[in-house]
Amino acid sequence: MMLLLLGPPGVGKGTQADLLTQKYKMVRFSMGDILRDEVTMNTSIGNRVKRYLNQGTLAPDELVFEIVDDFLIENRDTNVLFDGFPRNINQAMSLEKALARLGLSINLALELALSRAEIVRRMTNRRYCTNCGRIYNILTNPPQKDNFCDQCRLPLSSRDDDKEEIINKRFETYEDQTRPLVDYYKTLSVYRQIEASGTPQEVFEKASSMINALTG
Ligand code: AP5
Ligand code: MG
Repeated sequence: MMLLLLGPPGVGKGTQADLLTQKYKMVRFSMGDILRDEVTMNTSIGNRVKRYLNQGTLAPDELVFEIVDDFLIENRDTNVLFDGFPRNINQAMSLEKALARLGLSINLALELALSRAEIVRRMTNRRYCTNCGRIYNILTNPPQKDNFCDQCRLPLSSRDDDKEEIINKRFETYEDQTRPLVDYYKTLSVYRQIEASGTPQEVFEKASSMINALTG
């Protein structure tokens, strides 16, 4: 099973990806998390992508494919949940071709939809653990101990791109480059949308029923 989560920045893709991969025993592929780790570790990929993340624009497709190709080969026999990839038509077409070479295809492209005001509220209150990647929200999903990861016990961070001017640019990038994927996946008859309001658990239940309908 190959699933992907579509949706604007901050809508809750990562939060749902965590819950869904646990329930359905899928491997998660989160391009944003991978790129942020590269930046944190100061690798050559990290140095190449840092400015795109900090501007709220997309990293170059070639670089993204290098990462994806390795992942697909390693995980060809596994159920995969893509979070934040693909992000433009070129990436979607390349993914389709790469999967086809392995005899695979996307089974569900699930879009999470929410008003922009609510999304901005989620993003500006987000915190995350740079060690394990766990996502928190000081209003809706706070850690047990203020500003410390429940799992790692390390201090939480805000994302560098969760600043107002970068948030605006990320929305612009999303509208220009990523939203066209809705029509792309409609054409492939694998597109579904759910409303992402409500608690993470409520959204998870809606997402699960879409996946259950698929798997029978
Ligand atoms: P990426 O990391 O993918 O960021 P994004 O798409 O902007 O999405 P976010 O991670 O910000 O939000 P999310 O939807 O995961 O929400 P979350 O679950 O955290 O990409 C970052 C950058 O990397 C890009 O700008 C680009 O530069 C680069 N990049 C990534 N992929 C690329 C690609 N394919 N090609 C090129 N470049 C790429 O939730 C947000 C907050 O809300 C959290 O605090 C959470 O606790 C809270 N929350 C979640 N659900 C709920 C709920 N139901 N109710 C209340 N609060 C909730
Ligand atoms: Mg995310």
